[in-house]
Amino acid sequence: MRVLLIASAFNSLTQRVHVELRERGHTLGVELALGDEAVRAGVERFRPDLILAPMLTRAVPEDVWQRYPVLIVHPGPKGDRGPSSLDWAIQLGAAEWGVTVLQAVAEMDAGPVWASVPFTVRAGGKSEVYRNEVADAAVEAVLLAVERFAGGWYGPEPLDYSQWDVTGQLRPYHAQEFRRIDWLADDTATVLRKLRAADSQPGVLDTLLGREYFLHGGCAEDELRGSPGELIATRDGAVCRATADGAVWIPQLRPRREAGGPPTFKLPAVDALGAEALTAVPEVPVTPSVAARRDTWSEIRYREEQGVGYLEFTFSGGAMSTAQCRRLLAAYRAAVVRPTSVLVLGAARDFFSNGIHLNVIEAAGDPAAESWANINAMDDLVEAILTSTDKYVVAALAGNAAAGGLMLSLAADEVWCRASAVLNPHYRLMGLYGSEYWTYTLPRRVGADQAQRLTDAALPVGAGEALALGLVDRIGDGDSTTFRTWVQQQAELIAGSGELATKMATKKQRRADDEAVKPLAAYRAEELARMRHNFLDPGESYHQLRRAFVHKSCPPETPAHLRG
Ligand code: COA
Repeated sequence: MRVLLIASAFNSLTQRVHVELRERGHTLGVELALGDEAVRAGVERFRPDLILAPMLTRAVPEDVWQRYPVLIVHPGPKGDRGPSSLDWAIQLGAAEWGVTVLQAVAEMDAGPVWASVPFTVRAGGKSEVYRNEVADAAVEAVLLAVERFAGGWYGPEPLDYSQWDVTGQLRPYHAQEFRRIDWLADDTATVLRKLRAADSQPGVLDTLLGREYFLHGGCAEDELRGSPGELIATRDGAVCRATADGAVWIPQLRPRREAGGPPTFKLPAVDALGAEALTAVPEVPVTPSVAARRDTWSEIRYREEQGVGYLEFTFSGGAMSTAQCRRLLAAYRAAVVRPTSVLVLGAARDFFSNGIHLNVIEAAGDPAAESWANINAMDDLVEAILTSTDKYVVAALAGNAAAGGLMLSLAADEVWCRASAVLNPHYRLMGLYGSEYWTYTLPRRVGADQAQRLTDAALPVGAGEALALGLVDRIGDGDSTTFRTWVQQQAELIAGSGELATKMATKKQRRADDEAVKPLAAYRAEELARMRHNFLDPGESYHQLRRAFVHKSCPPETPAHLRG
């Protein structure tokens, strides 16, 4: 079928649906919902058999849904309606939720139901649940709905609240009045629910040191305590604030935009507040190994089991600033000298990495200089992985990876990914040539022609395609918990196998051979020469594209490479 995706943004779920339907032989096009006229023109251009809206924050024009079948993905169970479904699910502490695919009609979310798939809600931020449980249930529901539609035999079920399996209800927009934290009265569990329901958008509006900020992210703290509402610690850019019965960590803040002032964006909390305003607040570090045993906030954790080291890193939005890259490099260097034979890299859940931290760069006094520092810090990390010849390194992608963040994973000896991960092996949408030694690692894996095709096409790649191309080596099914168990089993098998010595010898030899043909330093120098040009030449698009990304500006029209 010709399937047109209409979406408010080509976000992770839209990318996932794109990948899954393409893998099943459908012809895909994308039209961003940038206005009714643009949508109408996009539909006429593409002439779809079916229109799907995986993530749409506005109504589809009536003449479009009158003329074409339009199926909307709604992140709520059957009967749930309204624009803030997941916010309510998390704030109310729902144990079970769902995703429903319904046909577009005049009334929002009230059309007949084509498919509905339940899921169990895991403790975590809204956007993390969205990229994991919601995305998996949504894909299952979309595939079912598409199959039912294509079969021509299925009559969608009209929404009828008298039916036993219709559990949802119409809920209002989740405005800030529902999110407000009472620091003197709210216990940690309540504060965490409010923070997580607002993560990553819109955040919880609050006052800190006399100024209004949106709080983004929330994590429990098991030891630190203070007077309710007080800022009691900082750690690696995050702040810790006491609640009525404990404390929580808040990693990121976004200043409230002042009337007539410039737009604001999320930053590490300490950067947003200004370090000088926090001189009385102690920095309370934690090592990766201690963090792995505690219930506290840390971006990096390290543990060992059965001869395998696990270096887990979780950076908000998958973005890695200069400081974050340096901290991860230090942790990597410590892990690589441990008496283990296999080292597994990657978050237990969600993003692997999305490359350099565009928000921190945007906020820097000299964004070009900060871009340069950030890419060099990334390259140092990648180089350390590429040159670790006495450890077998596995990158385990529990979630999505993009641009330099995906290239970072390719430095490992093997790349394993969860079946539902979406990979974006390209930089050009950010106006960058790219570094992270990708000119060495990508063609080495997929060949020069495919490397060229992937970087030019700038389209997301699903796990199945990635495996067929050689971009990844193994795929693990299931949710993030199942994937984590599978990774552990696979890693332990390698660590205990008699073949490990051969694998290590082959690795060492290959590195030496490759170095003789072209040194790593030459790849880096060539890539960085192109990046320097991207950062410094006034004619380059990078600074403009980065600004648009950070400020979440709408593009003037749907990018040509998505139209199909
Ligand atoms: N720097 C700063 N923030 C980043 C980021 C980066 N490199 N990559 C992602 N983020 C942020 C997003 O702004 C978003 O923030 P929000 O939670 O406030 O909305 C969050 O992380 C999640 O990203 P989002 O775009 O919503 O996720 P997605 O899964 O829909 O899309 C990407 C993923 C990777 C396609 C998209 O985020 C992207 O293009 N990132 C930039 C990649 C890049 O060019 N990196 C620099 C070159 S190495």
